[in-house]
Amino acid sequence: MFTKVATRSFSSSASSAYKVAVLGANGGIGQPLSLLLKLNHKVTDLALYDLRGAPGVAADVSHIPTNSTVSGYDPEGLEQALTGSDVIVIPAGVPRKPGMTRDDLFNTNASIVRDLAKAAADYAPNAAVCVISNPVNSTVPIVAEVLKSKGTYNPKKLFGVTTLDVLRASRFVSEVAGSNPVHEKVTVVGGHSGITIVPLLSQTEHKSLDQETRDALIHRIQFGGDEVVQAKNGAGSATLSMAQAGARFAGAVLDGLAGEKDIVEPSFVDSPLFKDEGVDFFSSKVTLGQDGVSTVHQLGELSDHEEKLVKEAKDTLIKNIQKGVDFVKQNP
Ligand code: NAI
Repeated sequence: MFTKVATRSFSSSASSAYKVAVLGANGGIGQPLSLLLKLNHKVTDLALYDLRGAPGVAADVSHIPTNSTVSGYDPEGLEQALTGSDVIVIPAGVPRKPGMTRDDLFNTNASIVRDLAKAAADYAPNAAVCVISNPVNSTVPIVAEVLKSKGTYNPKKLFGVTTLDVLRASRFVSEVAGSNPVHEKVTVVGGHSGITIVPLLSQTEHKSLDQETRDALIHRIQFGGDEVVQAKNGAGSATLSMAQAGARFAGAVLDGLAGEKDIVEPSFVDSPLFKDEGVDFFSSKVTLGQDGVSTVHQLGELSDHEEKLVKEAKDTLIKNIQKGVDFVKQNP
């Protein structure tokens, strides 16, 4: 007897199986981020790395019945963790305590990120690298400089994760407007710290807020991270909302690699937008494709107030970026 078996056809143009490595996977962000990545069906191989504790996190999330294998690695396993990775997500490093700016983390996190970037260049030179470790405005240029020195820099595959600013903007706008945050889409541009975070409210339905409300809202989006740092009272900064943001961004990168269309997220990337003014990295909407960034979007029409905010952001970004570049020059 002949039995016809129903078959599904899959596109052969792009893979649907990806290896993702999380560096710093035992941390406050790393653990929930690993959990959320375990739930992403495009991730078939999840490699969790940390100075300590990653095998435990891996054993734990590996029991979730999704179609991926999970492995945990201590320092001697960094090469194995990275080899074959399509996407590397880096939340390794120290978080803020009350009263600290993200820039105060530079001294500790710069060398952590530099060393992980070296390993990424050696063992996964084609991977997309998503940097969460702060200060993002400086750590992304650090990774770029390291990859350049190793001859593996692909500007289309290096991302500073600014998605948390986008999530906060949606949430905080909805609280002011009394709307559903799920439907609030706010483009946030610039960088990822304080005044470099510029939400483009004029491009939303909320362009006619009175000046006081608008300024308070923008300030909350720029400094929303401080609310969490203060509430945690010395125990760290945003971890759960950041994990959600990181998983969303890494998921978008994977969607792009898989050839899905119209995958657009803001990210802090090597950007042509203001290079002629000396700003080599800038966050704006980018379209994600099979080779990483396929289009860096223009900012679109800005209000006079937003023009001013973008200008101030650029001035700070130039210094933050230079600090990262100088660090690698002085501490190769
Ligand atoms: P955490 O201290 O809870 O975890 C950091 C983890 O990194 C620890 O498990 C630690 O062992 C590990 N680590 C340190 N050096 C390492 C190395 N060389 N290799 C591998 N792992 C290493 O910190 P948390 O809260 O997870 O924050 C991590 C970073 O993310 C901080 O720099 C923080 O400022 C940043 N962050 C970024 C955000 C963004 O929007 N981009 C938002 C919130 C935090």
